[in-house]
Amino acid sequence: MKTIATRTTLLADHFYASLDARLQGMNDGPPVIRLDVGSPDLPPPTSILQALNDSAANPNHHGYQPIKGELALRQAWAGLYKRLHDVTLNPDTEIVTLLGSKEGIFHLSLAVLEAGDVALVPDPAYMTYARGAQFAGAQPVALPLRCENGYLPELDSIPAELLDHTRLLWLNYPNNPTSAVASLDFYQHAVDFARKNSLLVIADSAYTQITFDSFRAPSILEIPGAQEVAIEFNTLSKSHNMAGWRMAVAVGNPQVIKSLGAVQANASSGAFKPVVDAAITALNGDQAWLAERNATYAARRDLLAKRFTALGWEFDLPRGALYFWLRLPFGGITSVDFTNRLLETAHVSLTPGTVFTRSTSASRR
Ligand SMILES: Cc1ncc(COP(=O)(O)O)c(C=O)c1O
Repeated sequence: MKTIATRTTLLADHFYASLDARLQGMNDGPPVIRLDVGSPDLPPPTSILQALNDSAANPNHHGYQPIKGELALRQAWAGLYKRLHDVTLNPDTEIVTLLGSKEGIFHLSLAVLEAGDVALVPDPAYMTYARGAQFAGAQPVALPLRCENGYLPELDSIPAELLDHTRLLWLNYPNNPTSAVASLDFYQHAVDFARKNSLLVIADSAYTQITFDSFRAPSILEIPGAQEVAIEFNTLSKSHNMAGWRMAVAVGNPQVIKSLGAVQANASSGAFKPVVDAAITALNGDQAWLAERNATYAARRDLLAKRFTALGWEFDLPRGALYFWLRLPFGGITSVDFTNRLLETAHVSLTPGTVFTRSTSASRR
């Protein structure tokens, strides 16, 4: 009997799922310092926790919730875009809430790609962009991010015959894993490029509220008319220290938001009402704590930078996101072997760079 769909073989080796299992097996040994995943270690402020508790105490708050997300929640996300980016969003047509952006990122490919389409995926990148495309029967094609270009893709050097088959272009700034940032000029170029080549550009903005040294991360939707060709993912996971809460959003082009909502309506139901209420508090409440939290991250960044410099390791000082993209300073060992050895001998867990590179093909087959 054939019980397993072939497409699931594409998903067999999810790095963090395997790592979780491996770390569980190390539970009896010395504690492991986890620097491998961008899961904030600080809690959200008490006002958000209080909103969760108060709402959970209401006996009427335990049933199913609107799949598209409560209007007040969509309005709160619209408020964030107005406040941070001076972007006006229609909460009815241009916003859909998600159970974490990972879910939406994966489902987006099912919503917009046909079998055989190409999705341009940065290399390195967060792995779900490519996995979603593969699962939809489409082909993720690597768009190299090079250090000498500030880890921005060279859009103008993409071959025309590849663009003929391309439906999607993924972008993510501040970037995981390089921590590179993008300017409004770059986003203008990306929007022009998407218009010229009739493709959808997706900006994954998971880290726009984690920035340092007075840098402000723009939204692609700040570009006039961007909604015609772009959507953006955003999440409270990193911005508000709420990674476990699974609360995120997709905003922008109404047609795409509608089809993503249709996929989602069949795959999941709305978030737990207390989480919704706490998210509304997180989005509408006092935001001053974010600057303090970012100052904490900046101090940690500076400490690491000092140590890496002393060791002679090369890196770009991050202006956003949570990561150092480090070049191994010596040859003869792969990043996988290095991180394995570090875990076994020093009980420090890092992610090898190859995790961010291996799920795309270098060119169209
Ligand atoms: C670039 C990027 N996008 C999306 C996500 C997923 O975030 P969420 O917790 O909203 O699913 C992550 C998580 O690490 C990420 O690094």
